[in-house]
Amino acid sequence: MITSVKGFNDILPDQALKYRKVEEEARAVLEAFGFSEIRLPIAERLELFQRGIGASTDIVEKEMYTFQDRKGTLLALRPEGTAPVVRAYIEHGLYHRDPVAKLYYMGPMFRYERPQKGRTRQFYQIGAEVLGVEDPRLDAEILDMVTLLFDRLGIEDVELFINSLGCEVCRPSYRQALLEYLKGKEEGLCRDCKRRLGTNPLRVLDCKVEGCREVTARAPEIMGFLCNPCREHFEEVKGHLALLGVPYGIDPRMVRGLDYYTKTAFEMICKRLGAQNAVAAGGRYDRLVKDLGGPDTPGFGFAIGVERTVLLLKDREEEILPEAYIISLGREASSESLRLLKELRMEGIRTELSYGERSLKAHMRRANKLGVAHVLIIGEEELKKGTVVLKDMEKGIQEEIRRDRVVSILKGRVEAVGV
Ligand code: HAM
Repeated sequence: MITSVKGFNDILPDQALKYRKVEEEARAVLEAFGFSEIRLPIAERLELFQRGIGASTDIVEKEMYTFQDRKGTLLALRPEGTAPVVRAYIEHGLYHRDPVAKLYYMGPMFRYERPQKGRTRQFYQIGAEVLGVEDPRLDAEILDMVTLLFDRLGIEDVELFINSLGCEVCRPSYRQALLEYLKGKEEGLCRDCKRRLGTNPLRVLDCKVEGCREVTARAPEIMGFLCNPCREHFEEVKGHLALLGVPYGIDPRMVRGLDYYTKTAFEMICKRLGAQNAVAAGGRYDRLVKDLGGPDTPGFGFAIGVERTVLLLKDREEEILPEAYIISLGREASSESLRLLKELRMEGIRTELSYGERSLKAHMRRANKLGVAHVLIIGEEELKKGTVVLKDMEKGIQEEIRRDRVVSILKGRVEAVGV
């Protein structure tokens, strides 16, 4: 037997319906907030992620699926969508059309991480990016939108945490202060964090290893180091969130795993998820467009993890059931049933045919299992009389109706229950 690849999961029909629900709800909310869809390639040049996400991040250092195509060009399966959106924005000169671009995307991303609950190697994100707006009202507007989306999905226990990561003016002094604080405490850090000291010391703050958490418990917080513009921006975001009635907490240790963030960063957490508890995350990236060769343009965006969102959905019956089920008995009736199947489907009635030479009892068992509301039975007797037996499965009532009235009668009943 050939099995699927570890961390690359099949999404079976009952799960797929939940993915679709999340995607449909997200589309409705995003489009109401003025976003347009962009569809981007699954593979990009490796360099895009090295420069965009940062060469010393976990994602770039050890989680990317990279390969060479037949000409030797280095490619990567996309581990996220922000760098590709920015690449497309620059490549197609989207800023010539409108100074503000609001784009959303959904689709699979790839990271070579250790699979566990809520963490897979191929996973789906729904993301959105706004390019060209520096105003802190935008940060609040988007956070309000993400909150609204979880509300609309009936997921009420998601908590929003925000932080500011400063900018190229103030972050270096914080980095310096953190390094000084950590000096002499290296021994207490895990191997990854020891390495991070030389490359990405802020990441030490959100290491999950107990020893590292103890070491950093009294580390200085970035808030005390923000420059005036960053501090003002953060204060305004907080004010606007309050005005919009969006509940939030502040997490001064949140640093995010991607290097492009400046100023506002956020995560939406749900405790029910366990260790992998971030269901959405994002923030501001005011230098990324310029760093990737475009005009100096601020950005703000986020991505929702669809696997984790689906885990949080209430177990509602999402199944799409057939409305009618045709059972035919005997050879001649079987041709008639195919004709009736087509007529009903042409009228938009979800109809299934019972295949095989089974007994009426076996056919009915399957109808019951499928949960259909109406069963149509055509036997030789009915064929001769020009009739069909219609059974209402809920009421348990059976009646014989004229063949030429089947479609209109069924249409009336299906519409009456509003399926
Ligand atoms: P991220 O925090 O790396 O941000 O990912 C966003 C969300 O994707 C996470 O909060 C999580 O729900 C989901 N996710 C990440 N990795 C996995 C995985 N291995 N398995 C399942 N779900 C996962 C970004 O990707 C940024 N591009 C977000 C952004 C957009 N920032 C600005 N614009």
